[in-house]
Amino acid sequence: MTFLITAGPTREPIDPVRYLSNRSSGKMGYAIAGAASHKGCRVILISGPTQIEVPDGCDFIPVETASEMSDAVAHWLPRADVAIMSAAVSDYRIKEYHEQKMKKEDGVDELTLTLVKNPDILAEARSVHGFPGLLVGFAAETENIKENAIKKLERKGCDLILANDVSRPGEGFDSDLNTLLAFYADGEKELGSHTKEHLGEVIIELCDEFLKKK
Ligand code: PMT
Repeated sequence: MTFLITAGPTREPIDPVRYLSNRSSGKMGYAIAGAASHKGCRVILISGPTQIEVPDGCDFIPVETASEMSDAVAHWLPRADVAIMSAAVSDYRIKEYHEQKMKKEDGVDELTLTLVKNPDILAEARSVHGFPGLLVGFAAETENIKENAIKKLERKGCDLILANDVSRPGEGFDSDLNTLLAFYADGEKELGSHTKEHLGEVIIELCDEFLKKK
């Protein structure tokens, strides 16, 4: 059984020294990768820049931008039975990369950067690459958790979406804890509030249950 897991943030460069990114630490994705590897599965871990150790036994593919992550997923997806997209991918990137460091100009008090949309890696897994395996997405929400997560499940064509309320203090982004709710075509399940390590194991068990039904 081969798992492809995306994790961490992406970085979208503005100039040689600046980038747009987010607060993802990679802990959630690495915990899932560790749990799958521990069960003897092959794991392809495609990760944006993080400060944490790669779990033992994973094939590690480091990337920086959403475009690089998209290319890596397109390359490795055909080898996967299960794809779990936990990365916090930047929805937009800078339209025009500045080859030189942008200078602060006298008299210029406002600066506008134009952004363009990045590929939706999770949605393209099915719509572009026709991935036939089990497709699991995450939904990072701050309001209307259930409604927004179900919309993402449908729009992105996943089998399962794991929703977290990222406005809860002390969990979600860059924390050891998380609270997850799973939504799927014919139901929902509370995975509860736990360490990410434990949730990684719970997610792998849930994937096993879904694979048996598929
Ligand atoms: O990394 P940690 O610090 O441990 O934090 C964990 C987490 C909060 C990042 C993780 O639990 C989580 O919620 N990951 C998804 C973050 C996110 O970008 O959610 P979203 O609701 O914006 O995106 C929905 C889904 O589409 C996600 O599976 C995401 O990987 C995917 N996506 C989004 C945009 C895009 N351009 N391409 C994508 O594939």
